[in-house]
Amino acid sequence: MTEPSREDCLTRDAADPLAHHRAQFDLPDGTIYLDGNSLGVLPKSVPERIERVIRQEWGRDLIRSWNTADWYTLPARVGGKIARLIGARAHEVVAADSTSVNLFKLLTAAVRLRPGRRVILSESGNFPTDLYVSQGVSGLFDGIELRTADKADIAGAIDDDVAVVSLTHVDFRSGQMHDMATVTEAAHEAGALMLWDLAHSAGALPVDLNGCGADLAVGCGYKYLNGGPGAPAFLYVAEALQAAIDQPLSGWMGHSDPFAFVTDYAPADGIRRNLCGTPPVLAMAALDAALDVWDRVDLQALRDKSVAMCDVFIQLVERRCDGLGLTLASPRDSEMRGSQVSFRHAEGYAVMQALIDRGVIGDFRSPDLLRFGFTPLYLRYVDVWDAVDILTDILSTGSWNQDAYKRRAAVT
Ligand SMILES: Cc1ncc(COP(=O)(O)O)c(C=O)c1O
Repeated sequence: MTEPSREDCLTRDAADPLAHHRAQFDLPDGTIYLDGNSLGVLPKSVPERIERVIRQEWGRDLIRSWNTADWYTLPARVGGKIARLIGARAHEVVAADSTSVNLFKLLTAAVRLRPGRRVILSESGNFPTDLYVSQGVSGLFDGIELRTADKADIAGAIDDDVAVVSLTHVDFRSGQMHDMATVTEAAHEAGALMLWDLAHSAGALPVDLNGCGADLAVGCGYKYLNGGPGAPAFLYVAEALQAAIDQPLSGWMGHSDPFAFVTDYAPADGIRRNLCGTPPVLAMAALDAALDVWDRVDLQALRDKSVAMCDVFIQLVERRCDGLGLTLASPRDSEMRGSQVSFRHAEGYAVMQALIDRGVIGDFRSPDLLRFGFTPLYLRYVDVWDAVDILTDILSTGSWNQDAYKRRAAVT
């Protein structure tokens, strides 16, 4: 099979049922953005909304806006919009804090829900914050430990010592995806709870938390959900567990009656008990506006285009950059892959800086990964073709081989 030509890519774009969504985003000229899995691009509706929140709601209406502009219910309303994207019901999701803080709340609650069990089970290659927070939670309880296993060995490591299995659905390095239904079932068979980190899943592909019977989940607002740098994260608690959740950050926003100002903590019913303090209204409003782009998005069409773009990318890179030092580090089988593709290169950092200099933005993950994210709402097939064309040029001319490209910045 020959690789697709630029013309083929333009033809696919012309027939793309998601193509019209691109107009909702503010994309810089001359940039091919393959990093929406780190920081999604700016939806055009966000600046207008933030301007209104700052000038009118804050500037003019001041404290009244907690009621008149409904600031108070933003965490639940934003959570409700995310729910559809992750296969949950609106009352099972709330936007709050960072992913790390939400992990802390839910992992602690999970350990408390399984007294007598002494293990938080995770994956050795999990995103570091997931491991660090698990270590922190373990340190708070006598006899609780974090146990890790390799991805392939997770199912075998679930036994009746395990209180909670905590995994990232789509691997941040390779994009490899766990089978959510199978792993959740294995956790439940052993009597453990199942927590999923959806940082690389929400807005990247359809997720079915309810269908899989998942207990708990967390995820980011700033990647595929386009909520902006440091956007609030979200958490999910299955309805059946909500009344039993005893999370440790028992702040006033999770109280059953915050404005009664009573001395003793009494958790709210439902998902709201998982809140802690005052929500960051500007950031919540940005995420709220950004989520409107998802209103009518068909998630199966999203997945189809994501798979097709990743397949085209892999095929083009392997054909055109053959012998130029790249090795695929993501599953070739699209069923096992999220919406990102990584290639190894011994000088991956410098190659990525050279790409960024030419307007193709991806990111580098130590020690040698070039990581490219594919966001079907605003990327075109022709972008994929052009990105590979530039990559081929950089590798075949060796233009990446410059000191300026080898100097590491603080954030890669
Ligand atoms: C899987 C995963 N979990 C969590 C995070 C980040 O968490 P936080 O929102 O606390 O920065 C990331 C960030 O890239 C991630 O990839």
